[in-house]
Amino acid sequence: MEKKIMLTGDRPTGKLHIGHYFGSLVNRVKLQDEFESYILVADVQALTDNFNNPEKVRKNVREVVMDYLSVGIDPEKCTIYIQSMIPEVPELTIYYSNFVTIARLERNPTVKTELAAKRDVFGESVTYGFLGYPVNQAADITAFDATIVPVGEDQLPLIEQCREIVRKFNSVYGEVLKEPEAYLSEGKRIKGLDGNEKMGKSLGNAIYLSDSPEEIYKKVMSAVTDPKRIKKDDKGNPDVCMVYYYHKLFSNKEECNGVCSECKAGTRGCVACKKQLAENISEYLRPIREKRKYYEEHPEVVDQILIEGTNRARKKAQETMKRVKGAMKLDYFESDK
Ligand code: TRP
Repeated sequence: MEKKIMLTGDRPTGKLHIGHYFGSLVNRVKLQDEFESYILVADVQALTDNFNNPEKVRKNVREVVMDYLSVGIDPEKCTIYIQSMIPEVPELTIYYSNFVTIARLERNPTVKTELAAKRDVFGESVTYGFLGYPVNQAADITAFDATIVPVGEDQLPLIEQCREIVRKFNSVYGEVLKEPEAYLSEGKRIKGLDGNEKMGKSLGNAIYLSDSPEEIYKKVMSAVTDPKRIKKDDKGNPDVCMVYYYHKLFSNKEECNGVCSECKAGTRGCVACKKQLAENISEYLRPIREKRKYYEEHPEVVDQILIEGTNRARKKAQETMKRVKGAMKLDYFESDK
């Protein structure tokens, strides 16, 4: 039986952190054995709200790919490619744009939330490019006949939008496109060092996969602990402490139990507790960091992976394009053969 096709991706706007790791990367590493897998670095989409900062997007393409490779995404199993290098995708975007109204895009909850947070970029009036990025994302997915799209909850409205486009397109041109499904990753959502529900670069509360042990140490020292615990021998409440929260992710059961009971009894100081956590996180991330170092020192290997991935991806997208153009009666000088 043929494997189902999985596709997902990230905007290259920064390095990936442990929130990405537990939230999606671990899951992708598992899925790459089960599905024919594609992962795109969405540089075109990143430009829709970073159009005035092309250097940032370009630089982060390689950073994100090095993060992928260092956590175990295997270029032999998974096609990693750069979105802008597949010209069939913007071509499809144009055709699909006939099947989406402006009002529908303006109502898209993901777009609405992002716009509210991006007043500094767009002011009162959104660009055509940003408003239309869900159409572009529908092209990303359908160009590869992907039916499985692993994403976080925030992306569900984009997948729904894609499904609508597929249904409308197929109702006019025949069963040409495959209707994808979102695959909600079972991943954990990781809070920031400050206790914020979300870990993110702009929030300054993230530990990156590429952070050095020194950086990890510094960040862990700033993590928010039980605010009511002022003196070392005050009894603490580990349930409101970010250090304990992270111990549960990075330390073994025995250590966690010790942290919990000693904190409650007021026999363990926060500084010692943080030191131990920083060490455990550093140790946990060591293999990832070491693998990443190899790719940092061998940029030509990363380039080669991207070139090969992009070539493979392009072939696949070209096959879809042929089908789409045939169905749309745009296959001039070929249909009479
Ligand atoms: N919108 C996704 C993000 O912000 C990135 C992305 C672009 C994507 N194209 C995609 C995800 C196609 C899944 C499928 O992270």
